[in-house]
Amino acid sequence: MTDILDRASTVPTISGVEQRRSLVTALPGPVSQALHARKTAAVAAGIGVTLPVYIARAGGAILVDVDGNHLIDFGSGIAVTGVGNAAPEVVSRVQAQVAEFTHTCFMVTPYAGYVEVCEALNRLTPGDHEKRSALFNSGAEAVENAVKIARRFTGRDAVVVFDHAYHGRTNLTMAMTAKNMPYKDGFGPFAGEVYRAPMSYPFHEPAPVSGAEAAARAISIIEKQVGANRTAAVVIEPIQGEGGFVVPAAGFLPAIAAWCTANGVVFVADEVQTGFARTGAMFACEHEGVVPDLITTAKGIAGGLPLAAVTGRAEIMDSVHGGGLGGTYGGNPIACAAALGAIATIEQENLVGAAQRIEATMLARLRDLAAKHPKIGDVRGRGAMLAIEIVQPGTTTPDAAETARISTACHAAGLVTLTCGTYGNVLRFLPPLVIPEHLLAEGLDILEQAIAG
Ligand SMILES: Cc1ncc(COP(=O)(O)O)c(C=O)c1O
Repeated sequence: MTDILDRASTVPTISGVEQRRSLVTALPGPVSQALHARKTAAVAAGIGVTLPVYIARAGGAILVDVDGNHLIDFGSGIAVTGVGNAAPEVVSRVQAQVAEFTHTCFMVTPYAGYVEVCEALNRLTPGDHEKRSALFNSGAEAVENAVKIARRFTGRDAVVVFDHAYHGRTNLTMAMTAKNMPYKDGFGPFAGEVYRAPMSYPFHEPAPVSGAEAAARAISIIEKQVGANRTAAVVIEPIQGEGGFVVPAAGFLPAIAAWCTANGVVFVADEVQTGFARTGAMFACEHEGVVPDLITTAKGIAGGLPLAAVTGRAEIMDSVHGGGLGGTYGGNPIACAAALGAIATIEQENLVGAAQRIEATMLARLRDLAAKHPKIGDVRGRGAMLAIEIVQPGTTTPDAAETARISTACHAAGLVTLTCGTYGNVLRFLPPLVIPEHLLAEGLDILEQAIAG
């Protein structure tokens, strides 16, 4: 276990960082403010910052800033540090690897770590069929490569994505992403042959629509507007991330996957945000027994180092000619060492079970809050990927301003929260899976006060 009880204070310490919130300045403190002035002068304005508090060190679920404030982390660097920040197994393996060699380029002279990560992915992802994996640097790059592979395999061009989808910021993945501001505005023209189908978004359906009905609605659009015979891949997040933590109605994903199988279309699960125990299963597809043809992963794969992957059926993955996939840094040895440390931590510390425990604690509290505050229109999510949707009380009309106010109030109290959603009105919670119970409770107390605000 990474928790070590500090006998003097009984505050647990993870990775050398006491797991307690404490504020010694208003946020951001003076040292952060000075750094932020330098950021404004040196860093491109397009690189936004949610909370201009500059971090000096971090461990577990605590971020320590340059002014000495300890903040509770309900964001995990956007679903990345599930194993905790500076997780011991990640740090020790990275330190060992960086002292051995830093880079050779796997495509030039390979090394074992890359192969071991692929073996682990082939073992851990849904389905017991024969699989292959390929490693990349970012989630967007993994999604791009999944599309390349699906097109090569099928000989077809069209790619179907969904309303509210988020798949990245490269040219193809911008085309696949739904929301214009801030991701796409002014950045076109976008890649072609990308088509959008209606999502199952239960809270915003005018009348209840089952998963099967929502799938039939989407399939009808695909068949009429794209054509099954032209469709290379359907790419879907099993729970949408940036689009608002949208959990489709039960039966939606299996029906879409079955249609893909029946029509020779590659079903791609984009599990960049939902993967690696985050949702209380190793991968979110498992909640509905869906076995994707290809699965894209990143974020939680390597405890904070940049790594991403496409994993899938051997016959699809191996349909690409030699040299057709790759990149200078994809599967960098240090990132692979980190991934092996992160995966070992997830399995040895049963972080799937930890995510389920977080869900039990948080969902109960969030539902209580929703009962008290009609501005909380919906509580949803799975595992440690939970959200509340903020609306004009008694309606489903999004209230982005109130959402921003609540999030800012959380930040001022030392709780890092994130917002998301097509309408900007979703507060999402992504705590590290190793978060101690007392910090989870304290974070929820802060949230409650901020909502009551
Ligand atoms: C579902 C999903 N796909 C793809 C991406 C893009 O990943 P990256 O930012 O590593 O390129 C993200 C990032 O948030 C994501 O949530």
